Amino acid sequence: MNVAFRPDGGVAAAPAPTRGLLPLIGGTPMVELTKVAAGPCRLFLKLEGANPGGSIKDRPALAMIEAAEREGRLAPGGTIVEATAGNTGLGLALVAAAKGYRLILVIPDKMSREKIFHLKAMGAEVVLTRSDVGKGHPDYYQDKAARIAAETPGAIYINQFGNPANPLAHQRGTGPEIFEQLERRVDAVVCGVGSGGTLTGLSRFFAEESPATEIVLADPVGSILVDVVEGRRPREPGSWLVEGIGEDFIPDIADLSRVARAYAIDDAESFAAARALLKAEGVLVGSSTGTALAAALKYAREQTEPKRVVVIAADSGAKYLSKMFNDYWMADQGFLAKPRRGDLGDLISRRHDEGAAVTVAPDDKLAVAYARMKLYDVSQLPAIADDRVVGLVDESDLLLAVLSNPAGFDAPVRTAMSRAIETIAVDAPFGDLLPTFDKGYVAVVVDGERFLGLITRIDLLNHLRRQVD
Ligand SMILES: Cc1ncc(COP(=O)(O)O)c(C=O)c1O
Repeated sequence: MNVAFRPDGGVAAAPAPTRGLLPLIGGTPMVELTKVAAGPCRLFLKLEGANPGGSIKDRPALAMIEAAEREGRLAPGGTIVEATAGNTGLGLALVAAAKGYRLILVIPDKMSREKIFHLKAMGAEVVLTRSDVGKGHPDYYQDKAARIAAETPGAIYINQFGNPANPLAHQRGTGPEIFEQLERRVDAVVCGVGSGGTLTGLSRFFAEESPATEIVLADPVGSILVDVVEGRRPREPGSWLVEGIGEDFIPDIADLSRVARAYAIDDAESFAAARALLKAEGVLVGSSTGTALAAALKYAREQTEPKRVVVIAADSGAKYLSKMFNDYWMADQGFLAKPRRGDLGDLISRRHDEGAAVTVAPDDKLAVAYARMKLYDVSQLPAIADDRVVGLVDESDLLLAVLSNPAGFDAPVRTAMSRAIETIAVDAPFGDLLPTFDKGYVAVVVDGERFLGLITRIDLLNHLRRQVD
């Protein structure tokens, strides 16, 4: 028997070992929320981040590759081409590695380096292309992927936006799984649309098995899909920061005809919902789940009868730790209100009086200063004693100290730091920053004798940008 020994001393069934990762795709957990107030409704989260590639896209990735195999379009030694930097790329990379296919991903050059490193580490070949061109241009990422597939012998273009195996994966897999997990009583399912595979597949499954189940669309503000569902002429598409959902066109496979309710949710509300969920229930989900959860809460609170509502949690929050779950990023984007005093203190992103500034003590070893610079990706550190700045150590100071003597890393910061620090009073005019920047220094801001924090050029730019947004 396979048993799991639980921390409380109990035992439960544990799954038997699988041969490779592919059998672990699907069969994801469902968790009922216990702390989030949802009107008369019960909310259930389908945790798709538990798939081995970390998202719901493992399901269509496997289904699209196996459909191509069955149809004889993909044979051993073949090549898979797709245009994506998102979860579909990770799902395809996982399946391609397990099955021994070559994978080429065409990625617009605005995508984050982390995503590109991740995909390369999984064995994908990455072709970067321009992000500033639209459909029809030869460098547009989807057109380029189609062309590479056509020109490469034995290659197929997966095209998740037009591939019928994508919604089928959800009609045959995700839908029945949800239905059985909730003992065939599901009143509503809430999800977003990227390719439309999830929503279309679930729509088709529930239309057949449980026509009263309502399909609810959660869409970012700026996407055109809510307007389409509600029969309006779509507004000009905008931009949004939530990842993986929302469109400025209707994908070929997307069938929105069974959507009963649609909600447009802005970034601030999506991020707040995901962060509140983590605090209240300890569930770490991605940004598109924040959008779905916020829509589900609106839907639930509008109901007069108790309903069982399923929210698709398309991926885990682990890959958003440096964005949505990072207070500094949230504050820089204007999502976390910071008290504004109208002085230079407003420009400091990491304040010393909030314990957030990265500093060293004059008696710390230079090795500590070096490690902190690397960890926080900064090139200078203030040396602080009793809340006063006593020096500044930068990369050149470090270099001079250790160049001819590697043991110099053991010397204290005070032996290498510059002591001639120009400080700026917190109530000085903003223009006083420029001469400091012109000399190539960061601004060291003080309130009387007390160190408040550093201001760099990018802090000033962020501040000016916030004022026009
Ligand atoms: C994080 C995330 N949420 C939701 C979706 C939407 O799924 P679908 O493509 O099935 O519409 C995606 C798709 O890439 C995604 O990456």
